This record gives sequence, C-alpha cells and structure tokens, in this order.
Amino acid sequence: MRGIIVVYSYTGYTRRAAEAAAEASGWPLAELTVSPPYTGGYWQMVARIGGEMVCGSHRAVCPAADVVATAERVILAVPTWWFTYAWPLHSWVREASWAGRRLYGLVTCGSRPGHSGEELARDSGGALVDILVVRQRQHPAPDKQEIATWVSDVVMKE
Ligand SMILES: Cc1cc2nc3c(=O)[nH]c(=O)nc-3n(C[C@H](O)[C@H](O)[C@H](O)COP(=O)(O)O)c2cc1C
Repeated sequence: MRGIIVVYSYTGYTRRAAEAAAEASGWPLAELTVSPPYTGGYWQMVARIGGEMVCGSHRAVCPAADVVATAERVILAVPTWWFTYAWPLHSWVREASWAGRRLYGLVTCGSRPGHSGEELARDSGGALVDILVVRQRQHPAPDKQEIATWVSDVVMKE
C-alpha cells in the first residue's frame, strides 16, 4: 500500500505529530509551505487569518495538490484555525484528486477542533475516512504512542 503524509504546520506542533505518523508508517513526509509565508505571534495570526477568511483571500501552497497522486492513502496533518482546518489548505484540498484515494486527517488544536472533520470531508468530496484529533492542551508534546496506534489500527488497516 502506497501512502504519504502531507503536513502544514505554523509553530511546529503538527510537524511533530506528522513525524510520529511517518515513523509509525514508514511513509514519506511532504511539508507544505504557503507563499507569502505567515509571520507573527498567536493573536496577530488569529486576527490575520480571521481577516483572510472573511475576505476569502488565498495564499499559494507548495507543493501543489497533485503531490497526493503518488499515494493510495494520504494522512493530512493540519492545525485547527478558527474552528476549521488551516485556511490556506481549503482550496488545496479541493484541488487534489481524491478519486480512488483515502484521506485521513491528523488534526491538531489547542482544545477545540470545531468543524475541521466535517469540512475536510466536504472539501475532499467524501474521501475522508477518519480523523485523529491531537489536543495541545491535553498533550503539550504530541503523544507518539497514540498516533502510532491510530496509524497501525486505522490508517494502515486493510
Ligand atoms: C490563527 C489560529 C487560529 C487557531 N484557532 C484555533 C481553534 O479554533 N481551536 C483550537 O482549539 N485551537 C486553535 N488554534 C491553536 C492551534 O490549532 C494549535 O496550537 C495547533 O496545534 C498549532 O499547530 P502548529 O504548531 O503545527 O501550527 C489556533 C491557532 C492559530 C494560529
């Protein structure tokens, strides 16, 4: 089974969760970057992202969505922003070709993932099979064992 882990992370927490999934699966990790990149602390980001969501403005995401074309199963590791998965990835997920692929969300948050799962399911045209929510408030560092168990029992299950 060919798989890939695609990760976007602003402050590094989701990257650590994705690295634990890569270790457990042996799948390659592709890190997404946005252009122009974001800068600034938490509240600056909260205000900026809120503004971008209201205006519908977008930033370029690299690599492009066809990076999923090499895989049958895709783990998308992404932080929660404003009760949904990170805003710049919404159009990226919509552009990816999900036909014949299974999507698994590894969604990090402070404590409340909001509508991340529903919106990932919607934007992937129903390719989402499962999500694991990793709460920073509960786990100051991502729980590698919990992630490894999810990878083996859910994501890599036949
Ligand atoms: C702009 C912004 C909005 C956020 N909105 C939420 C939210 O709605 N719910 C929540 O529980 N955490 C929220 N957070 C916290 C992040 O989801 C959490 O810290 C995440 O694990 C950070 O991942 P990262 O270090 O990979 O960027 C928000 C963070 C930022 C920067």
